[in-house]
Amino acid sequence: MSDTAPQTAGGKVLWHFTMSLDGFVAGPNHSMDWMAGTTHRPGLADEYVETTGAVLGGRDGWDAYPDAGAIYGGAWKGPLFVLTHHPEDATPAEGVTFLNCSPAEAVRIGLEAAGGKNLEVFSPTIGRQLLELGLIDEIDLHIAPVLLGQGIRLYDNPGSDPIRLHRVGEGDPTAVVNVRYRPA
Ligand SMILES: NC(=O)c1ccc[n+]([C@@H]2O[C@H](COP(=O)([O-])OP(=O)(O)OC[C@H]3O[C@@H](n4cnc5c(N)ncnc54)[C@H](OP(=O)(O)O)[C@@H]3O)[C@@H](O)[C@H]2O)c1
Repeated sequence: MSDTAPQTAGGKVLWHFTMSLDGFVAGPNHSMDWMAGTTHRPGLADEYVETTGAVLGGRDGWDAYPDAGAIYGGAWKGPLFVLTHHPEDATPAEGVTFLNCSPAEAVRIGLEAAGGKNLEVFSPTIGRQLLELGLIDEIDLHIAPVLLGQGIRLYDNPGSDPIRLHRVGEGDPTAVVNVRYRPA
C-alpha cells in the first residue's frame, strides 16, 4: 500500500491529526475514544517525537485534555503554546505558555521555540486561521478506518471557497488518492 515518507524536521508548520474517514479529528465533546482499535505504521509516533520542536493548540483542546505530558503518549517533551483570549483564568502548567496574540504571532513564537524542528498545530480552529494566512506548510493526516458522523471537523468553514491542495510526495500532486474500505 502506498504511504507517506517519514516526516522530516525542517522548521515547518504542520497541521497534524489522526482523522476519521469522514473528516473528524475529535468526536462530540472532544471525545477521542474512536481511535481505539486503529493502528499506525510501526515507528510512526517516534517520527513525530523526533521531528517536533513545539506544539500550538487552542484553549478548548487544552481545557478538554490539560496534560502537556501526554503528547505522543508522553514520549515527547517540549514547549506547548495554547492560544486563548483569556489566559488569566488558565491554570499554570509546566512547559505550557498561554498566548493571547494573533495566530501569526503564535506561529512566530512557536517556530522560534521549535529551534529548527517543526511546529505542530493541534487545533482545527487555529489551523483554519493559519491556512487563510498562508502559514501552514503541510497538512499531515493519518486517516483512521472509522466513520464518526459527528464531532469536530478538520476544516469547518461554511461559505468557504474550495482550498486547492497539492499532495506531498512522488507522483502527480493533483491526483486523487484511491482507498477502499468495507464495514468491519
Ligand atoms: N485527532 C487528533 O490527532 C487530534 C490532535 C490534537 C487535538 N485534537 C482535538 O482537536 C480538538 C480541538 O478542537 P477545536 O479546534 O474546536 O478547539 P481548539 O482550537 O482547541 O480551541 C479553540 C479555542 O482556542 C482559542 N483560540 C482560537 N483561535 C484563537 C485566536 N486567534 N486568538 C485567541 N484565542 C484563540 C479560543 O478560545 P477562547 O476564546 O476560549 O480563549 C477558541 O475558542 C480537541 O478535541 C482535541 O482533542 C485531535
